[in-house]
Amino acid sequence: MKNKIYLLSASLMVATFSFFSCVSSGEKETGKDEIEKKVENLLGKMTLQEKIGQMNQLSPYGSEEEMYALVKEGKVGSFLNIVNAEVANKIQKTAVEQSRLGIPVLMARDVIHGYKTIFPICLGQAASFNPDLVRESARVAAIEASADGIRWTFAPMIDVSRDPRWGRIAESCGEDPYLTAVLGKAMIEGFQGDSLNDPTSIAACAKHFVGYGAAESGRDYNSTFLPERLLRNVYLPPFEAAAKAGAATFMTSFNDNDGVPSTGNKFILKNVLREEWKYDGMVVTDWASATEMITHGFCKDAADAAKKSLDAGVDMDMVSGAFSGNLENLVKENKISEKQIDEAVRNILRLKFRLGLFENPYVSTPQSVKYSPEHLAKAKQAVEQSVILLKNTNQTLPLNADEVHTVAVVGPLADAPHDQMGTWVFDGEKAHTQTPLAALRAVYGDKVRIIYEPALAYSRDKQTTGLAKAVNAAKQADVVLAFVGEESILSGEAHSLADLNLQGLQSELIEKLSQTGKPLVTVVMAGRPLTIAKEVEESDAVLYAFHPGTMGGPALADILFGKVNPSGKTPVTFPKMVGQLPMYYAHNNTGRPALEKEMLLDEIPMEAGQTSVGCRSFFLDAGSTPLFPFGYGLSYTTFSYGNLKIVSGKLTVSDTLKVSVELKNTGRYEGTEVVQLYVQDKVGSVTRPVKELKRFQRVNLQPGESKQVMFDLPVSELAFWNIDMKKVVEPGDFKLWVASDSQGGLTTEFNVAE
Ligand code: NOJ
Repeated sequence: MKNKIYLLSASLMVATFSFFSCVSSGEKETGKDEIEKKVENLLGKMTLQEKIGQMNQLSPYGSEEEMYALVKEGKVGSFLNIVNAEVANKIQKTAVEQSRLGIPVLMARDVIHGYKTIFPICLGQAASFNPDLVRESARVAAIEASADGIRWTFAPMIDVSRDPRWGRIAESCGEDPYLTAVLGKAMIEGFQGDSLNDPTSIAACAKHFVGYGAAESGRDYNSTFLPERLLRNVYLPPFEAAAKAGAATFMTSFNDNDGVPSTGNKFILKNVLREEWKYDGMVVTDWASATEMITHGFCKDAADAAKKSLDAGVDMDMVSGAFSGNLENLVKENKISEKQIDEAVRNILRLKFRLGLFENPYVSTPQSVKYSPEHLAKAKQAVEQSVILLKNTNQTLPLNADEVHTVAVVGPLADAPHDQMGTWVFDGEKAHTQTPLAALRAVYGDKVRIIYEPALAYSRDKQTTGLAKAVNAAKQADVVLAFVGEESILSGEAHSLADLNLQGLQSELIEKLSQTGKPLVTVVMAGRPLTIAKEVEESDAVLYAFHPGTMGGPALADILFGKVNPSGKTPVTFPKMVGQLPMYYAHNNTGRPALEKEMLLDEIPMEAGQTSVGCRSFFLDAGSTPLFPFGYGLSYTTFSYGNLKIVSGKLTVSDTLKVSVELKNTGRYEGTEVVQLYVQDKVGSVTRPVKELKRFQRVNLQPGESKQVMFDLPVSELAFWNIDMKKVVEPGDFKLWVASDSQGGLTTEFNVAE
């Protein structure tokens, strides 16, 4: 990975050390043996109680005195949710100076898409298809969080998520294992920096291991039923990539898969993670997921939960108290061995040594790194590349400030500084958020007249009183900008929805605005794809911004007025209706795939014969196609693809497929296209997906400019878990597409010989 040069203010230079140059700490780790020696040496001095103390993670509760007393007695290995440098330093001082062995405490926090400077939600960042930018975003988050003593984040969430009813899809990189793996790795590199022991590095946590994104019907915490092959082909690859990238920790998930809760799943935590992947990081439970195994009906009490978690391979218990309350007795009763405890404690101490906590437990980074101009600029850039242009009839966008005199700004998300930050924001403050309304006024207010009528106070608002005012504003304007979507509280953990239509009266608002006949630009801010077929139809242009974070406003204003050309692509399929879910592009073909044109409900004649509708895999009321496919997104300019070539159509497993295509900017604006490479394994020992993303590249072109875009794809990357549950490339014919989304594109074939 190349170092990037980035302009930093002098004050920031001091604290920013390795701003945008990250090499996975796993790959670059030095002094490994040295650390192992230190771990063994320390472990040898520890009592059983001290070891169990290290395995205990707590969130502050009770009085401050109680907290310090526990630290003094060596009864806590990690705290989550302490977000104050002074308190963090006080805790470390207590641990280092007053506990018997002076082992520092590890401070953790959910730093998901920014700490103070909030970046787009991860699903939005994924729409950028830009690992460099995603890495830099995580770096900023690490710098800001570590200034408050946080050295461990519970991110990235790399659960493949194929159901937008699941509120946590907002935290994910979407539906695709490859995109998730690439971006997850980038986040890990950003959080962990050049080396874990840099004071601005924070340990990453690959979560939730595993399958959590496949919760039945998208209902959070729900059971999953993923057979081993699906698990290995779809849900595990991002985690394997995370382990390889040196993710310092893994977190178990809440779900039970086929009856086995992840926190007690030996197959996943031992056989796969430790034995197959040789992972030497640390494994933490999710919040109380150890004792939740009692509720699951998998453990009879907390002691049983502690034993099953430890037997499965968990090292640290997040807040349930199962370890601290039971491990000592379990050892005495010979139900678990001290050797097992030692193994877990090794993993914990190793991490603390890797983080350099023993040499420097204290934080001294200046607080001025928070919301620094550089961080805000990076956050703006992240929004610019995350926003997806879904529709743009008659080139409604970009707006020309010389031609548009009056703009009506309406909708509950136009000026919602809290909600535009999205889910999992504990530390970002809305006072720092720049909303679209504020940015439009600040940047374009001297050129165009802006009339603001929110119509609705928040996304679920059902008060009709404001609608007429908004319509009136629209009538006076040359163009209407409607900011609709979801409040942040509607997505994220425990925020699943059965209905993905716009909440409250937002749909009525769009309908009424559209009836004015004025050009209507709808901007959606949401934590997930919403079912907005009707609103897309009624709008002239649609921008999907997800929850864009602190700098959403300035970025959107620049996109609307054409200073920035949108380049985001859908990281997840947008369904037309909830009933289509789960819906994802990499499905199997079935024996009866849908035809391009299927007979829909209204076309079926009365008393039609049983077989008249075709007997194919589709919905009579929704067809087989989504509202927008995976990988979809327009630009203000247009691109043409041509001259697809592969160097050789006859390959062996050890070869690398070389693909080239000519991309031309055929429009009037400079723009960036995400060129996507998909492959289909035509015949397998088990049925294979209709296509799978294997590579992508962001390519920037001036109007009229062409570039040859090249891809290298080692044939070994076509391996999958086959009928014998072996990961192999099966020789045979493959189809390949180079395309601007997961539908269509240029295509060719190649063959892999024995
Ligand atoms: C529960 C969530 O599932 C997990 O993602 C998070 O990191 C922990 N709580 C800690 O807040």
